[in-house]
Amino acid sequence: MTEQFKKDVLEGLNSSPKFLSSKYFYDKVGDELFVEIMNMPEYYLTRAEFEIFSKKTQDLIDSFEINKNEKFQLIELGAGDGTKTKELLKELVIQNFNFEYIPIDISQHTLDKLETSLNTELPNLKVNQKQGDYFEVLSSFKEGGVKKIVLFLGSNIGNLTDDLSAKFLYELGGNLDKNDRLLLGVDLIKSREIVLPAYNDKQGITAKFNLNLLTRINKELGGNFDRNLYKHLPEYNEEEGIAKSYIVSTANQKVDIKSINQSFEFKEGEKIHTEISRKYNDDIINKITKHTDFNVENKILDSKAYFADYILKRN
Ligand code: AVJ
Repeated sequence: MTEQFKKDVLEGLNSSPKFLSSKYFYDKVGDELFVEIMNMPEYYLTRAEFEIFSKKTQDLIDSFEINKNEKFQLIELGAGDGTKTKELLKELVIQNFNFEYIPIDISQHTLDKLETSLNTELPNLKVNQKQGDYFEVLSSFKEGGVKKIVLFLGSNIGNLTDDLSAKFLYELGGNLDKNDRLLLGVDLIKSREIVLPAYNDKQGITAKFNLNLLTRINKELGGNFDRNLYKHLPEYNEEEGIAKSYIVSTANQKVDIKSINQSFEFKEGEKIHTEISRKYNDDIINKITKHTDFNVENKILDSKAYFADYILKRN
């Protein structure tokens, strides 16, 4: 992990323009800040998808095309605290569906917390948590003769470029069987007045989340970034439908990173690109699924049409 982190920091800070990967946001501090982000008034994404899971639960269930005599596995990629999923799980349990819930996450701590809360809230639910890599876990269920419904929520796919999303979905399809389903939750393209504040909140939580990358480099790689000399810069272009985050140097400065034996120069106003958060529409979803084994079957929206849960069927 540290070796990969070093390699990626070295590559990103030696590039022009500079970049760092958003996957490094999520250390312990970053995980906590992301929970705060989900609770911010400006971050509409989580609330919108929660509304779909709580008010359109039956539409979701119908789109899975499952029946009560047939056993299935409900598999969630990156389960987190399961707040949205619990709305669906409750209804599936009430309606006596024959299934097990399989949350997959890289964090064992997250999985243990989720399982404990599920055991008290839904004692009759069968939970079979799996720690590890999504595709490794999925391949272990392939051709098991049990239908699989995979959840990938929260517009998590939006951190990938369209090429990488297409590749991800292609590989995901390879680890599923005919008639399995993918429920893909994505944020939709909408006006800048709504999107930009979600990445530029008044309390400055997103700024802390972004700048935490520098603190992480300081802590884990022996860097000496002075966080006060950098600021968070979000951008959103409605035509393109991509929110982008940058860290901007507010001075000419030099930073040493001990563990990679290098120093880096930053000009006043120079940007480090740290994240893309892609927003979607039908055309983009069709484009990224085109060369995969999935067909787009259905789309379920919240009442404001901010967010969509697409149902993809493995053909
Ligand atoms: C977890 C990738 C869905 O892009 O909206 C939130 C991460 N970044 N605020 C997103 C994030 C800044 C989030 N995703």
